Amino acid sequence: MPEAPDHSALAEWRQRLAQARSVCVLTGAGMSAESGIPTFRDALTGLWSRFDPARLASVEGFRADPGLVWDWYAERRAGVRAAQPNAGHRALAAFARRRPGVLTLVTQNVDDLHQRAGNRDTIRLHGDILQDRWLEPCGMACDPARAEPGRPPRCVACGGLVRPGVVWFGESLPPAALQHAEHAARHCEVLLVVGTSGAVWPAAGLAAAARRAGAHVAIVNPSASEIDAEAHVCLRGTAAILLPALLD
Ligand code: APR
Repeated sequence: MPEAPDHSALAEWRQRLAQARSVCVLTGAGMSAESGIPTFRDALTGLWSRFDPARLASVEGFRADPGLVWDWYAERRAGVRAAQPNAGHRALAAFARRRPGVLTLVTQNVDDLHQRAGNRDTIRLHGDILQDRWLEPCGMACDPARAEPGRPPRCVACGGLVRPGVVWFGESLPPAALQHAEHAARHCEVLLVVGTSGAVWPAAGLAAAARRAGAHVAIVNPSASEIDAEAHVCLRGTAAILLPALLD
């Protein structure tokens, strides 16, 4: 078990967050780990240590075997629906309620736990696993929700495939979400990076952008990440424990 962060660092950053006029929080899969949703790169339990992302999280993989990918996302969707926001999600929602206009929450996660906890305006960099969309724009402008049932569903008019509304490897992020996230990172007083390995860009670049712009940067993660060097402090602990300690 990692050493618990020293109390002076927690107290220092708790005060910094309480006094900040603008706070940006970037979350990754570790944010939802204590809600029972597996991360991607944790050894043994991470999804990518058990499944091949090229086959299951890419357009090529979907085209090669739409049924396999659709079933895999159906299983992940069921896991998300069965999960509950944890104390970390609730601490962020309470902070946003107490301090209107101070928090910009940016997530790489495709679950809806931040939203269910109350952070409805969360910036989603990698999409939403509970949303469907067309693999190709449907020329008949049909609604994916009304597609012919199947694994995956198909458009009754053009036969097009429905796919999960997430960003796959090799795809670009939604431009507006990325611009909003970059602006928040460059204009915040404090950036809190929670539960991300920092392995995937451009989300991983937000910490360096914030640091360069003069923000105080803290990482909450029980383990080392690829972006630790961008942080003034790495608070070794979990989201459900440290976020209430920092924000409540
Ligand atoms: N609290 C905080 N952090 C945790 C916890 C926890 N309870 N449990 C694990 N972590 C940390 C791990 O130490 C790791 O650094 O969360 C991080 C999870 O890293 P990844 O599994 O790589 O997830 P993430 O960084 O969100 O991945 C980024 O990669 O596959 C793509 O699109 C996917 O959005 C995802 C992106």
